[in-house]
Amino acid sequence: MSIEKEIKRLKYERNAVILAHNYQRPEVQDVADFVGDSLELSIKASETDANIIVFAGVKFMAETAKILSPEKMVLLPNPRAGCPMADMVTPHDVRKLRKKYPDAAIVAYVNTTAEVKAEVDICCTSANAVKVVEKLPQKRIVFLPDKNLAYWVSTQVKNKEIIPYQGYCYVHNGFRLKDLLKAKKEHPDAEVLAHPEAPPEVVENADFVLSTSGMIRHAKKSRAKEFIIATEFGLTHRLKKENPGKEFYPMGAPRFCGNMKITTIEDIYNSLLKLQHEIILNKEIIEKARNALEKMVEVV
Ligand code: 13P
Ligand code: SF4
Repeated sequence: MSIEKEIKRLKYERNAVILAHNYQRPEVQDVADFVGDSLELSIKASETDANIIVFAGVKFMAETAKILSPEKMVLLPNPRAGCPMADMVTPHDVRKLRKKYPDAAIVAYVNTTAEVKAEVDICCTSANAVKVVEKLPQKRIVFLPDKNLAYWVSTQVKNKEIIPYQGYCYVHNGFRLKDLLKAKKEHPDAEVLAHPEAPPEVVENADFVLSTSGMIRHAKKSRAKEFIIATEFGLTHRLKKENPGKEFYPMGAPRFCGNMKITTIEDIYNSLLKLQHEIILNKEIIEKARNALEKMVEVV
């Protein structure tokens, strides 16, 4: 039997669901029950009635699923799939910021550890960061860990003072204006879609700044036939699959997230077969972190 069929059989036997992020390898996306951005995956994880969630993504995403569905078994197929940006801020850093800015709300991008989520007021994703910040009553907002998303949010909201943390994503922070301009010269009719983790010089010159699934929705409804994409190259799989008549070009050389690509289809199979690697979180962390995540889900 093929590995895809084995996965299907095990999934049924175990009453499991496979959730995959848009940056996962094409063959992993193809065996998933649902593929989406961080926000959609969080919502799916909180709504599923499967007993087991196999999370094909990085650790903070699987932790988010566990926090929102603590009674379920959540598996991270490759335990080395972390997010370097999520590791740039610690609970100790958040407590220090709380002391330094006592009147500010602390907003954490969902790309943070469960322990950091337990210390903050509310979470957000790239899809809802502007909305989350707008809805907060506080004027001052400490935004962590991504300095580029913090910058983008600060340009989109009125009457807020955004205090950025200095974290960044090594994949998105490498996009450059010169590559945008070169791609635009080569494809003058193409629309430029950028992820808000890209640096200011790129988002300021993009036509649309969107989450990964936001890019997919936009590409479907746009009249444009060509797009220049500033996000991890894995998104191109869904973009092409769901828009067969359209062309997608990377901005500069294709950029990959090694952490997202580390999970293989064999890891998914082994995870379902051996029920490995389970996300275990302490109860108190779950309670506190859930508060910040639920507030985010309420806003959207
Ligand atoms: P999205 O929520 O837009 O899918 O982004 C997740 C991520 O890790 C971006 O680097
Ligand atoms: Fe983290 Fe960047 Fe990879 Fe997303 S693309 S998981 S933010 S390192």
